[in-house]
Amino acid sequence: MILTKTIHEVTYQRFREYLDLTYSQNIKQKVVALSTGYPEPGEFPLPKVILSKLAVEINGVEKPRQGYGWDAGSQPLREILIELENSLHSTNYSIRNICMVAGATYGFNRILEAIFEGENKGKKLLVVGPTYYRMLNRVERLAQIDSVIGSEKKEFQITAEELIDSIDANTKAIFIANPTNPTYLYYSEDFFEKIIPFLEEKRIYLIIDESGDAFYQGEGNKRLKRFPAGINNKYVIRIVTASKKYLLAEYRIGYVLADETFMGDKTKGFIKIIGDDIGNAPLAVNEAWVEIALHELAVLRNEKCSCQQCDFITQMAENNRRMLYLRNLSMDHLLKSPSVENIIIPEANFNITFKINNYKYKSDIALFKALLKDSSISLLPCSGLGLDESLMYFRLTYGINEEVLIYGLDRLKKFLE
Ligand SMILES: Cc1ncc(COP(=O)(O)O)c(C=O)c1O
Repeated sequence: MILTKTIHEVTYQRFREYLDLTYSQNIKQKVVALSTGYPEPGEFPLPKVILSKLAVEINGVEKPRQGYGWDAGSQPLREILIELENSLHSTNYSIRNICMVAGATYGFNRILEAIFEGENKGKKLLVVGPTYYRMLNRVERLAQIDSVIGSEKKEFQITAEELIDSIDANTKAIFIANPTNPTYLYYSEDFFEKIIPFLEEKRIYLIIDESGDAFYQGEGNKRLKRFPAGINNKYVIRIVTASKKYLLAEYRIGYVLADETFMGDKTKGFIKIIGDDIGNAPLAVNEAWVEIALHELAVLRNEKCSCQQCDFITQMAENNRRMLYLRNLSMDHLLKSPSVENIIIPEANFNITFKINNYKYKSDIALFKALLKDSSISLLPCSGLGLDESLMYFRLTYGINEEVLIYGLDRLKKFLE
């Protein structure tokens, strides 16, 4: 277990370096981007029943649009999302526990303000790494950051005991991604069952970022991952986004689930912060998400939906099947590459993490730069997500075009030979 105070700074710089080099290089020569972190457009189409709800006109006539609407976001959408959450996790959330936000990053920054502005200013946020430190770049305006990272032996997942040991009297909140980025492994039910009562007693918020929870590829024949009912606790704040789950990142929409005391209303708490700021999460996608949630509920309840020629189940199942196929294809290729070892098999999403044990390079960033220069391949070094650079882990995005993926993996293999 590593507990460090400055890892977030180094990590942010690394991620920036990776982005800047990949995209400035792109101007001069064609880079094969193997770590986009997001599927290529068109590879995993949304069902037609959902796409039709995103249209701005029907039969040449503009659809009635909402205008400003509710402070906490569309009420019909919040209602159906609460029903879906409760059906999935046996929780008892109500409409007072949900607020729409403009994506997870935006939601997180506002949560931070709700917790750390005022008497908690300058107190501590404990970050569970590895993670997407890029979205934590503004934390230090309001709070100190400590990071805790699990051991390599445990695929960098921390244990409940390690988390509890990392807390001190100054810790006011914990940030954890479930599943973790870059490994896309979930924390167990047991982990949450151990830490939540402890955090409740100490009045420490647990902020769970569920952005990676998309294209579930773990155990059981289910498309959506379930969390334990204990997740519905006064000190747990969940962030859910449509960015990856439904590949709707450009609409900037997600939601925050939290206790009423945190959530507040128009006049106080989190909803007031949202109301004072954006006023309402983007409305363009509301109808589409209502339709998605209705279909997810029907699938969960084994009911038939009422639309004609519905392609929701078939298209979503096809997308998941294809994602799994690309994951397995990447693993087969990586296994054949010299010096690739310790492939961490993800349980969700579209990225896979692995170690390159090549004596020529002392750090992941050195290998990243050489690979980009010599082979025009861009592969994200995991020191950009909080892992030690000497461990030599990389994150590959497999949810891309199959030909590009195979081409890139072949070039990587040749580079390593
Ligand atoms: C852990 C994590 N949180 C949040 C985000 C961004 O989510 P959003 O598009 O909803 O802001 C990402 C994007 O890669 C991520 O990896």
